[in-house]
Parts: sequence; C-alpha cells; structure tokens
Amino acid sequence: MRIRTFEEYQQAYAYSVEDPEGFWGEIAQNFQWRKPWTKTLQWHFDEPNVQWYIGGKLNITENCLDRHLADKGDQPAIIWEPNDPSEPAVTLTYKMLHDQVCRFANVLKRNGVVKGDRVCIYMPMVPELAVAVLACARVGAVHSVVFGGFSAQSIADRINDAQCNVVVTSDGAMRGNKSIPMKDTVDDALIGCPSVKRVIVLTHTRTGVSMIKGRDVWWETEMKQVTADCPAEEMDAEDMLFILYTSGSTGKPKGVVHTCGGYMVYTAYTFLNVFQYEPGYVHFCTADIGWITGHSYIVYGPLANGATSLMFEGIPTWPDAGRFWDIVDKHKVDILYTAPTAIRSLMGFGLDYVKGHDLSSLKVLGSVGEPINAEAWHWYDDNIGKNRCPIVDTWWQTENGGILISPLAGITKTKPTYATLPLPGVQPVLVDENGAVIEGNGVSGNLCIKFPWPSIIRTTYGDHERCRQTYFSTYPGMYFTGDGCLRDEDGYYRITGRVDDVLNVSGHRIGTAEVENAINMHTGVVESAVVGYPHDIKGQGIYAYVITESDPAHEADLMRRDILATVSRIIGPIAKPDKIQFVNGLPKTRSGKIMRRILRKIAEGDTSNLGDTSTLLDPGVVEDIKAGALVDV
Ligand code: PRX
Repeated sequence: MRIRTFEEYQQAYAYSVEDPEGFWGEIAQNFQWRKPWTKTLQWHFDEPNVQWYIGGKLNITENCLDRHLADKGDQPAIIWEPNDPSEPAVTLTYKMLHDQVCRFANVLKRNGVVKGDRVCIYMPMVPELAVAVLACARVGAVHSVVFGGFSAQSIADRINDAQCNVVVTSDGAMRGNKSIPMKDTVDDALIGCPSVKRVIVLTHTRTGVSMIKGRDVWWETEMKQVTADCPAEEMDAEDMLFILYTSGSTGKPKGVVHTCGGYMVYTAYTFLNVFQYEPGYVHFCTADIGWITGHSYIVYGPLANGATSLMFEGIPTWPDAGRFWDIVDKHKVDILYTAPTAIRSLMGFGLDYVKGHDLSSLKVLGSVGEPINAEAWHWYDDNIGKNRCPIVDTWWQTENGGILISPLAGITKTKPTYATLPLPGVQPVLVDENGAVIEGNGVSGNLCIKFPWPSIIRTTYGDHERCRQTYFSTYPGMYFTGDGCLRDEDGYYRITGRVDDVLNVSGHRIGTAEVENAINMHTGVVESAVVGYPHDIKGQGIYAYVITESDPAHEADLMRRDILATVSRIIGPIAKPDKIQFVNGLPKTRSGKIMRRILRKIAEGDTSNLGDTSTLLDPGVVEDIKAGALVDV
C-alpha cells in the first residue's frame, strides 16, 4: 500500500489510471475480508450507480480493531485529551477499545438495534463517541453523527430524514468554559421524531437531565448488563456504513451515504500515504467527529492502519491560544491535521503562545476544509513546522469520503496554497461553463472527477434522484465537485473555492438557501438574500440582506439579535450571519431572480464595478443597498 518516493507515486498513479480495477484490487488485499469480491468495480455515472468490491463481505471493525489485537493489542488506539487540561488524559489501547466497542455493540442490540437500522449520534468529542460509531459498524447499523453545534431542529430534520430509531447522546458537553446541554437539545428535537424509541445517555458533565421512562437509558447502566463478546456482523462491501448530512446550494442538507468496503480501503490507503504514517506516530486531527474529516481521519483511516489517533474535546483557544501546542508537546504529536481557520485564529494571538512549547515531535502538518491563504501557510510552516515539516494541503469533500488531491508528505514537492496533485485513482478534469474539458496547464475551470474512486458518494439517503441531480447532471458523465480550480504550469491544482451557493465558514459548509430559509422564518421578515464575503479568520463570513415588513429603524439592533437567535434555533450557532443589513429591496432580474453577483460585490466592499445592472427590474435598489452597506473600515 505504501508509496515511498515520487517515482513510486507516479507509477502508482499511472497504474491506477490504466487499470483501476487491478490497482484497487491489489490495495484491497491488505484488508481482512470474510469473503473475497468477485468483481472489483462496476459503475455508471449517469444513474449514478457505483459499486466496488462486488460480493465482498467484511466488517470494518474487524479491520479497525480485531486484526490488530495480536500484535498491537497494548498499543494506544485512541488518546483522549479532555477539554480541561488539569484533568487526566485517557488512553484506550486496541484491546480496550475493542472491549468497549463490543460491549456497546451489545448495548445497541439489547436496545433493539439490528443490521440496517439508523442510529443518530449527538455527542461531545469523548472516546465514547468513537466507541458508539464503531459499535454501530460492528452490528451493521448505519450511524448518522450530528455535529454538536447543530440545533434541536437540525437534529430532528436529520433523524426524520433517516428514520433513526435510537439516539446516542450525553448529558452535556464542555467546550472551553462553556457548558453545552446536549441531552436537553436532544429532548427538544425528539418532540418531533416519532421514529426514536430509545435514547442512550452518557454521563459526562454530570449536569442534571430529564430521563424519560421507557425511552431513555444510561450508557453506564447498560454497559454493566452486557459482555464484551460480540462477533461482528457480516456486511456486504456495498452495505451502508454511514450517513453524514451536508449542505448544498438548495434545500435542506442531504444525507451523503458511504458504504463499507470502498470507504474502508480508500480512507486507510490515503491516511497511510498522505501523512506517511509510521508505526508509533501520534496522529492529531483537530476536527470534530461530527464532520467527515473526523470520520475518516480520526476514526476509520487511522484505526484501519493500527495507528494512534488523538482526540481532543476542547477548543484551540482555551484556556489560552497555546492549547494545540500544549497538546503537541504533552503527547509528543507527530502529525497535526487542522484547518486554516484555526491557524489564522491562532496567528492572531501572536507567537508568545507558541513559544515555550516543545514542538520537535512534529513530522507532518496537514490542512483541510478550505483554501489556505499564503500567509497562514507560511506561518504554519515557519512557526509550527519550523520549516522542517512538510505541509499537506488536502482537498476533498464529505461526498468523497477521503482525500482526493494532496501532496504526499515529504514526497510531493509542495507549493503554498496548492493542494498539488491527485492521489492514485483520482482523475480530475477542469471544465468550462459549457461542459467542455479544458486541456493543458496554466488553466482554470470547474473541478470535476471523471472516474470513480472507492469512497465516492453512493447516494443521498432516501432520494437518489437528488444525488444524480446535484453531482452527476451538471456535466454528464462526470462527478461535479462544486469547486473552482486552477491547474498551473506544473500541473499542480489549486482549489479556489465554491462556484455554487455554498459557503465555507470556518471550514463549515453552509448553504445560503438554508440560512435564508431560517432568516425568513423570523417574524416580520419578508425576504432575505445571503452571500459570503472574505473574512480574515473564518475564510468566509455570512452577510445577510434582509427586507422587513416595517422599517426596523430604531429597533434595528434588537431585530438583528432576534434574527440571530432564530437562525441559531433553526440551524445552529454556526450559521449565524456576521452582518445583517436591512434593505428595502433586493436586486432582481425581471424574471425575479436575485442577482447575487451584485450582492457579493457589495458585501466584499467592491462597489466600483458592479457590472451590468441594466437587466435589473429596479436598478435603484442597488444604490440604496450600497449606501447602507456594512463594510469594514
Ligand atoms: O470548497 C471545498 C472546501 O470544502 C468543501 C468541502 O466541504 P466539506 O464537505 O465540509 O468537507 C470538508 C473537509 C473535507 C470543498 O468543496 N475544501 C476542503 N478542503 C479544501 C477545500 N478548499 C480548498 N483547499 C482544501 N484543502
């Protein structure tokens, strides 16, 4: 599986394109299958229908846990660093993690979960979250992890969409000095979720919570009732492993479906090669398991390699902005994988927080989730990696399951702000607005992938047509990423950001339509339009133009706060607009379409050239909006 030189990368890449089935068939031999597959790949992007390792039988937890017991049983699988640095860290060896997962799998079974059921997990970043995820996989249940920053309404939408019958949560969570009521939020969500029959509640913060008789049970009590003997369920390679909801340019978030075989092979392969993991390394991915990065590079990818994965409960700025560096020093972290937004935020606190921490254990730095600007790249390189750690700028998406374009650490020559080259098996193409493929180098266009890799999205849960429409219809025969991209003279790829109405705020994907819908639910709001604007730390900020029934005038501030509260309630605090401008009208074409291009320019503070406004129904509104724009000075 392992690539060690650039020549080996080139050979692997060429092989993967010439003979994808041969290539991925060989890679998959490195895993434990109950029954071998009969055909490696069958695919059709039109429907879409992609199947890898057809007929193969496996259980991903046997690959992530059981097969390491003999020679790595006493090695740490998960190191957990709590929110409060004065509390002890916890290490779970492979044996311990296996034991916990088997026990919790039995708890799930005891509570009625059978293969194919959907289980919603809404938990803080504690080891039990990883245990719950793996326990679902062990019994063949489909996990749907919902990030802790989402509201009750968002949880309810996700539970109802997937018809989950069980929810796993905790009493509360601590993030920095904030206490977050998780069970309360679940209780609110469940008012509208008749499919849920059981809630399993972990004691974590010891905050008082309601426990409804017949529905709610304690994690700890349940764990006492079971043994650690739980044979893994045999799964088909194409059985569903999990659903993860993500935002698009229209409608509600969709449930991206990943399956067992291809996802396992691809996350394990990319983890090993991108980060050049060596036995004994401590891998610290700072993402939350509520996002795809956590699924693939905290849980499945590392564990499938028998690696040590560090999980951190807290936030980078508490108790102070040196927390990441403190963790690196304390646990002798070898690989640090974080997001540009975190780097930019820590940059702002200055170098005093970096000094005094021994960062010499670091070997590889990673970046994910959004474009990394040159300044942040260099700060990371100079001050954290001390110019001796390769930076892997990894580009990929929830729908991809694993990293698609990235340097291989220490092997691919890096270039600041470039994700560089596609990994073996990944065939990117740039296309123009009309769908024509743009050949050659020194070009830019919309990024598509023309051939399936093992962990490509299989469907959007309960709505296959939506999957086809969203990803496979814009450019027939290709998977469309929604990202703009340039390919420079060296053939290196640089992702320039979304070309659709999806925002990337602090690495969190948020649909403008979703935010607009939430704002429009606020009483007194007639209409709204949401766009992104460049934000120093978050990458993008959310700018909302709002039309209200009556002039908010002297109550504008209160109205703003109320709108924020509404968005928090409907989606979650992560979707709160940074700026709200009250307007009397929105720039619309005669057919009623909002001209977002103009709104984006105004939000960016670039009003000198708004382009052609002659097609507007009422060009006058633009002047009004410009006059009231909330531009930073
Ligand atoms: O716009 C790209 C951006 O994040 C989007 C995917 O978001 P999500 O599904 O939440 O997954 C994030 C973590 C894998 C992409 O469409 N993105 C992700 N990584 C990068 C990036 N943009 C630039 N450079 C990256 N390395």
